[in-house]
Amino acid sequence: MDKKLGVLRQKRQKAFEGGGTVRIESQHKKGKLTARERLHFLLDDGSFQEIGMLVAHRSTDFGMEKEKYPGDGVVTGYGTINGRLVYVFSQDFTVFGGSLSETHAEKICKIMDLAIKNGAPVVGLNDSGGARIQEGVVSLGGYADIFYRNTMASGVVPQISAIMGPCAGGAVYSPAITDFILMVEHTSYMFVTGPNVVKTVTHEVVTSEELGGANTHATKSGVTHFACANEIAAIQNIKALLSYMPQNCEDRAPALPYDVQNELRSELNTILPEISSTPYDIREVIDHVIDVGSFLEVHKDFAENIVVGFARLAGRSIGIVANQPAFLAGVLDINSSTKAARFVRFCDSFNIPLLVFEDVPGFLPGTDQEWNAIITNGAKLLYAFCEATVPRVTVITRKAYGGAYDVMNSKHIGADMNYAWPSAEIAVMGAKGAAEIIFKREISTAEDKEAKWKEKEQLYSDTFANPYRAAERGFIDEVIEPAETRIKLIHAFEMLENKVVNNPRKKHGNIPL
Ligand code: HXC
Repeated sequence: MDKKLGVLRQKRQKAFEGGGTVRIESQHKKGKLTARERLHFLLDDGSFQEIGMLVAHRSTDFGMEKEKYPGDGVVTGYGTINGRLVYVFSQDFTVFGGSLSETHAEKICKIMDLAIKNGAPVVGLNDSGGARIQEGVVSLGGYADIFYRNTMASGVVPQISAIMGPCAGGAVYSPAITDFILMVEHTSYMFVTGPNVVKTVTHEVVTSEELGGANTHATKSGVTHFACANEIAAIQNIKALLSYMPQNCEDRAPALPYDVQNELRSELNTILPEISSTPYDIREVIDHVIDVGSFLEVHKDFAENIVVGFARLAGRSIGIVANQPAFLAGVLDINSSTKAARFVRFCDSFNIPLLVFEDVPGFLPGTDQEWNAIITNGAKLLYAFCEATVPRVTVITRKAYGGAYDVMNSKHIGADMNYAWPSAEIAVMGAKGAAEIIFKREISTAEDKEAKWKEKEQLYSDTFANPYRAAERGFIDEVIEPAETRIKLIHAFEMLENKVVNNPRKKHGNIPL
């Protein structure tokens, strides 16, 4: 047995060494951790159980049979994060640049299959040069096997992708199907084709950072949900994200113990500016309403006219969608609609109740928006709210104008409880524009056109720039003092805790894509 144990230990040791000391040093010099170091920081101490440590590739072309590393460039297995089961894979850039071979793909598929069967999240730490070039089509097949499982797992178990190095070609599409992407600033890249191909095809000269760095994807494309300062920050972020989520679609997110006490927040009564066109930061409202310091904002730097993220209310996990008057007056446009729609669908998939703060002047007008399909994209958010069956509550703080009133979780599309502050203005459009249209003749024939316009604007404003017409109809369940918002929401979500809604049976809906 001693001899046999020696063989096993030697093999394990070789696996721990990955692509060897020189390559590990090179990885460290770039400011990157190794695949195993990342798992060490991600998982609870001593919880990692590796699967497939001794898997080796089967490739024989280009002398590959002589170059084998146990594990074949990816460390896979399961462990716990804050005591909860997760399945993990961590690509090892020191072995063939973390490139994906047939066997590398099989290892990832194996843990994904286990995750789906056992109902626990999958966290992928990606650091890969893409398809293993020496393997040709079998590597492409391996990617497709992963994409298929990503899709099958979507809405069944949460899937999180951290990008911790270059991710090119096929390496970007698996993360793209998962629920959340995190990138590390200055050491991670994502692109379908890199700068060299871009230069050849379009003659654009662009650096990797500009083309597909963390900040590019966090601000311009919205591909990544988080841009993290370093790998440790990214790992902490993954743990925080998971803390708001259930293990699977049949489960509920863990709630922290909480005793309801005096929950009035009087500072909210004075939080809005005097003039209704003056911007304010909706995050301040959110912070006063939720449990202290519990907001984890998602997609922070993309489409800033809408704010989305996770929070806790009396210990319960909730998802928040809020128009942001501090950016573009909180208008809905293409990017903000798609950003919010994706977040709503995630929350709905995983039984996380939705809280909406509404202060929206409408949809953004203009050729850019129309030609780039604000109709289709705005419809995504409408569709996402309509089909969501989780508890849904709306608070209208100020403007709720036009189609945006309908879209932003109105009662008509299935919201459960809708509150309005006395400052709410619920109408088809702003008073100025409305007066110009419906009193056009009177204004144009008046001696003092400006004065007439002002008078009619006031009339429209007195009639509709308030929440009471909607409250009379029952479209608003209660007009509340801002200070009461937190306690009203605590009670509402508690009341809705066992909500059951079954949408009509279907194969799947056809969300406007
Ligand atoms: C095999 C690879 C590899 C790959 C890198 N390596 N990419 N081996 N297949 N795809 C190996 C290198 O040979 C090298 O081996 C080691 O990994 C590190 O690579 P370097 O180039 O030295 O590192 P660096 O300078 O940091 O550059 C990293 C890189 C670059 C940007 C990822 O290696 C690169 O551009 N690789 C190719 C990317 C690519 O085109 N992939 C195919 C995409 S197509 P040694 O032995 O020196 O350590 C694709 C199709 C899928 O993925 C489509 C599905 C939809």
